[in-house]
Amino acid sequence: MTKTQELAARGAEVVMNTYSRFPIAFDHGQGVYIWDMDGKKYLDFVAGIAVNSLGYNHKKLCEKIADQCQKLIHVSNLYYTEPQIELAEILCKNSCFDKVFFCNSGAETIESMLKLARKYADMKNKPGRDIITMEKSFHGRTYGAVTATGQDKYHKGLSPMLPGIKHVPFNDFDALLNTVDENTCAILMEPIQGEGGIIPADKEYLKKVRALCDEKDILLLFDEVQCGVGRTGELFAYQTYGIEPDAAAFAKGLAGGVPIGAMMAKDSAASAFKPGDHASTFGGNSLATAAGTVVINELICGGLLENVKKQGTLLTKKLLELKEKYDIIKDVRGIGLMQGIELTIPASPVISDAIDKGLLLVGAGTNVIRFVPALIITDKEIEEAMDILEKAIANAVK
Ligand SMILES: Cc1ncc(COP(=O)(O)O)c(C=O)c1O
Repeated sequence: MTKTQELAARGAEVVMNTYSRFPIAFDHGQGVYIWDMDGKKYLDFVAGIAVNSLGYNHKKLCEKIADQCQKLIHVSNLYYTEPQIELAEILCKNSCFDKVFFCNSGAETIESMLKLARKYADMKNKPGRDIITMEKSFHGRTYGAVTATGQDKYHKGLSPMLPGIKHVPFNDFDALLNTVDENTCAILMEPIQGEGGIIPADKEYLKKVRALCDEKDILLLFDEVQCGVGRTGELFAYQTYGIEPDAAAFAKGLAGGVPIGAMMAKDSAASAFKPGDHASTFGGNSLATAAGTVVINELICGGLLENVKKQGTLLTKKLLELKEKYDIIKDVRGIGLMQGIELTIPASPVISDAIDKGLLLVGAGTNVIRFVPALIITDKEIEEAMDILEKAIANAVK
């Protein structure tokens, strides 16, 4: 048995069986490369599923975390700390939002947004508490977030789900219009659906949704857990679309791999939360928020947003070239460094073959391969990934 097989076998004994894991165990990483326990090197186009925005062993991030550890890792949210305030200030200064609620994961940001939406309706004495979300969406695994998720497979065996959540087809304004009524208090969507298969919203659709929400005083909530924080080439995905939501959820890449979530809202909505309405023990702790300040500063001042735009363009070009060559590539979709190819065949054999050849890839639904590398990726690394991907695709059509 190799070291990696041995560790995977030990893990299967004691770690709860909630993931279909690959029999791979990782030891360390550098930049966009990661090594398993036996020294096999992989080019990582998964990045912890859009989490490791600065790659592995990023000097500034590691130094900041080490430094912060020696000062404070955590104090209660009964008090203020400098890293938390600093991160909240940078986030608010660079967005349309006025306030941040910090928590620890994507699902928690969604829970906090769902609660905020109902509290907002309560504050405004609106009769309705219904929240409309999208088919094919993914919002997380806690009860509210999984109910909001518009995919039946995630609801199986869990009923009763949270009441008052309705799903409509994505990018279909008429379907939304037909579902909105006096009981609707909010509309929740990912501007670019991730797990559902890398499906960007149409700009015109979002414009109409914003106008509808304004007309009816309904909150527009964006789940930017996967597509936010630099992935589209703007700091936030809503900026790519030129549409401002009332509140939005960020997590994954925000602290470069340290668990964090940030639900941000405009004052008009944020004011619905009063002391005691919502809380999180670890939310916004000093370690996570210190890490978050490094990521945001790198994006804004370190030229990383420009890199995402540049590399995103190259990735699209390379994927379109592959589409020209291979009929099994049906579609190329996405923005910046959140892209996907839809295949006419199941994606998993192609992904497994690419992994064998040293390229880590992840699917999104059955037929889509997703590309969400670290935002520091270079031209050379994209070329290397595309060479391996092409070999795996060529193998699949043999
Ligand atoms: C769009 C979106 N929302 C929410 C979540 C849930 O995030 P977490 O797994 O951190 O709870 C995810 C996770 O993949 C996601 O992609």
